[in-house]
Amino acid sequence: MKRAVTPGTFDPITFGHLDIISRAAQLVDEVIVAVAASAGKQPLFSLEERTALAREATAHLPNVRVEPFDGLLVDFAREQNAQVLVKGLRAITDFEYEFQMAALNYDLDRTIETVFIMSPPQYMYLSSSIVRELASLNSSVDKFVQPHVAKALADKFAK
Ligand code: PNS
Repeated sequence: MKRAVTPGTFDPITFGHLDIISRAAQLVDEVIVAVAASAGKQPLFSLEERTALAREATAHLPNVRVEPFDGLLVDFAREQNAQVLVKGLRAITDFEYEFQMAALNYDLDRTIETVFIMSPPQYMYLSSSIVRELASLNSSVDKFVQPHVAKALADKFAK
């Protein structure tokens, strides 16, 4: 059974993430969306909220499940019997950081391979931080996230 982990902070999950997750789901038997605690990033949504939003967003994909994790990504992948880490690659600005993480993860565990899927042009410059900023300024995010995520953002910023 080929199992892939698609990791991220998912604060919140966007159409860009969903594009990568659904394409990964066509390549392997099972995809585990790993929602990182990422405490250092002080996420807008709690780990529980980010996991619940990602679960609802991927409910239509039968071979995808969503799990929260805290700690090293390669440890989580090993625990889940996953052989592959799938990351999305957007504009060149992602490359340096992703290259560094892939090299580090390779060093930590040589049995786990990192594979990159290129973002399609329409999501090249989409990020969770841009979505959060738009929502905080009361601008529509309907083009970038599913309705339940847009509602969660609106509720968060109404507080
Ligand atoms: O969506 P993000 O915030 O760019 O995702 C980054 C993430 C969660 C994939 C990365 O920070 C990560 O792998 N965190 C887990 C901790 C870890 O394994 N660190 C060592 C590799 S850099």
